[in-house]
Amino acid sequence: MSKARTEYTGAKHSTRSTTFTAPHTRIARFACFAVCVSGRRLFAISLLVSVLLAAPRAGAQQATGERNVVGVNPTDANHAVDWRDDVSCDALDGEGSDLRCLQLVPTVAFEAARGRILLERPDSPFGVAVARDGKPRHELRAEVDGLPASRDTFFVAWLVTEVLEPVRSLGVIRNGVTELGEVSLNKFRVLITAEADTSVIEREGPLVLRGSSPSSRLQGHDFAFASPLSAYSARSGAAARDSDARAHDHAGVIGADGWAMPPVRFDIVMPPGEMDLRPDVEPWSFDFDEDVPLARPQSWLRMSDGDTLRLSAQPIRRRFQSRDVMMFGFNGEYPGPLIEVAQGTTVIVNFRNLLPMPTAVHWHGIRLDNRFDGVPGVTQDPVEPGGEFVYEVYFPDAGIYWYHPHHREDVFQELGLYGNLLVRPEGAVGADFDREEVLLLDDILLTGLAEGDAGAAVPFGLERANYALMGRFGNLFLVNGEAHHRMEVDQREVIRLYLTNVSNTRTFNLVFEGAEVQVVGSDVGMFEWRVPVESVVIAPAERYVVDIRYTEPGEFAMTNAVQALDHISATYFGAVDTLGTVAVGASTTAEVGVGDSRDLTRRVRNESAARDLDAIRAQADRQVDHRLELTLRATDLPPVTEQLMRADRMYFSPVEWEGTMPMMNWASTSGQVAWILRDPDTGKENMAMDWRFSVGDVVKLRVVNDRDAFHAMQHPLHIHGQRFVVLEQDGRRNENWVWKDTVLLPAGSTTDLLLELSNPGVWMVHCHIAEHLESGMKAIFEVTG
Ligand code: C2O
Ligand code: CU
Repeated sequence: MSKARTEYTGAKHSTRSTTFTAPHTRIARFACFAVCVSGRRLFAISLLVSVLLAAPRAGAQQATGERNVVGVNPTDANHAVDWRDDVSCDALDGEGSDLRCLQLVPTVAFEAARGRILLERPDSPFGVAVARDGKPRHELRAEVDGLPASRDTFFVAWLVTEVLEPVRSLGVIRNGVTELGEVSLNKFRVLITAEADTSVIEREGPLVLRGSSPSSRLQGHDFAFASPLSAYSARSGAAARDSDARAHDHAGVIGADGWAMPPVRFDIVMPPGEMDLRPDVEPWSFDFDEDVPLARPQSWLRMSDGDTLRLSAQPIRRRFQSRDVMMFGFNGEYPGPLIEVAQGTTVIVNFRNLLPMPTAVHWHGIRLDNRFDGVPGVTQDPVEPGGEFVYEVYFPDAGIYWYHPHHREDVFQELGLYGNLLVRPEGAVGADFDREEVLLLDDILLTGLAEGDAGAAVPFGLERANYALMGRFGNLFLVNGEAHHRMEVDQREVIRLYLTNVSNTRTFNLVFEGAEVQVVGSDVGMFEWRVPVESVVIAPAERYVVDIRYTEPGEFAMTNAVQALDHISATYFGAVDTLGTVAVGASTTAEVGVGDSRDLTRRVRNESAARDLDAIRAQADRQVDHRLELTLRATDLPPVTEQLMRADRMYFSPVEWEGTMPMMNWASTSGQVAWILRDPDTGKENMAMDWRFSVGDVVKLRVVNDRDAFHAMQHPLHIHGQRFVVLEQDGRRNENWVWKDTVLLPAGSTTDLLLELSNPGVWMVHCHIAEHLESGMKAIFEVTG
């Protein structure tokens, strides 16, 4: 079984509910639009939902009525005028705060009550905090006032899922601030009721306040598709199935125009107009050639100071499920050779380009000499086909790194040009793990995964990248280039995993079934605190070092477990893909392994990692030195794409985990979509930016991922040649530092970074979604001294 398995873990619930409130003007506009196009239906639905949610049980209402809790506090008269200034979601500052605020709305009987619930970021070593099933984790903090005072009435908050059951108590709530604990659901509501008793386990009293999670604003876009485009007006379930069938039928067949319809992984609804979209570029595919040799598995090269490596980029043939696919590789291997060196080493790399197009090699995360950073057009000219370039790669920091071309990354990375660099710490003391594995995580988009098809990478844009909107999501998962990876370990061993995400755009939520997992390191070093986690969130180009241990023998899956969003029906569904299997053998020896002394289920301080960060700790509270905005400018998108994207702006999930807009994403090119890094203080964008620093500077960068962008989504931002620490995100301080070179910035987030400028030269900062980089999302800065 080598095909990645997909299963649906969540029912696709219909969520034709409406929100009670319009805290944002955008919402108001959308609501108006929806009412105009489908007034009756919306009305019927709101009515139904209001009845369901607002109607307290008649008996209970009477009972509490007798206890006289219904009434208006006389001092609330003033309040009523300006309450929006305190507990309204609108009153919050900060980018994307509407994405993290649930507006509470009073019932008529409690019209003086008001409040909001903030969805705060819980502690997490990752760019976004999710549960094991990929659902977003939030800490709920209620800010409420105007609850009437009464000695024998208590106000209780209830958490209600989008299907209205089950209902869970979040505890008693008072005027002021109440922490309600952690919740992880895609969409939910909070109800606050007046109860006679604090220990009620079921809601009995009348409803006082209620609200829906911001994600609940997502409404099925069939409202939108119903009216202006008459072709869609009859779209029903049946029509949707037809259009899906068309997409599936055509997937993988290269048509007369040279394009194959992109494969569609999920049974999602697509508007028919999407099916006629085509990218506005010529298709490019790598012609099949059976003389090209089959790739060999990766070699592990231990290199010493001054050693020379011959490295060539060349065509290779890969075999997946008995079909041969033309790809690229370093030295004819998949992935490229794993290069292991000691910290402080320099190795010489004689690079040869045996590909039919120009390229170069970038040493990701390595603070090396600027001349060898491998960025065509910035630090070197691209190496022409048949050409050579000599790199001197100096490794100042221990950790796990990788190398890849920095030119048409959408093509080269997708086709497999990547390898790992493992840098051992200087004067390393004895290891505190029993075994180590280096895993490169990837996905590739292939046509014709159905039985009997010839496989090929879905064609690329010749002149420029397609998949410019969200990046190219793959349909076959690869771990170290293999479609179903297998690892054999022993029970009780501590296994150190060095994980690198080399995919073009996919953020993984990795789950190691049956294992204890502790995160110990990331891009450029180790965490101050080793922390137990349920899963590992890793964005493109990020690395995480995790220690895992299996307590039982058996076969365990390693999966990617995420929540995907069907944009048309506005429903989330769980998608779980098996990336590999870990075979855990019964412990063969009675001997105590190194791992036996480790407790992976606890937080453990790493003193040496903490010391390594001391040099910049004093700078944490400095003023913001530079601001950076991440946004998007779209021109000339086809109307069907533009309309759907506009309707989608009500709410943006923190991370777009899956390619659930396959057609419009495929058809978008960097000619229609410009992704932008902007310095709001100078107005300069992308390559026009000209930040200058001196060696020794430590600066604070405030990076804002524009919530109002035409399409907001996450960006893994990478800074070349230096290292930085994440200080805080959306007002939540990071108390567990680690040196990073790439950081995942969720949609609508604000993140402060402390950047240490240690390495002179002209360096790049960019989004590491390959298609975003190709769509302009890059800038350079200079460090002198
Ligand atoms: Cu992994 Cu600018 O690169
Ligand atoms: Cu990006």
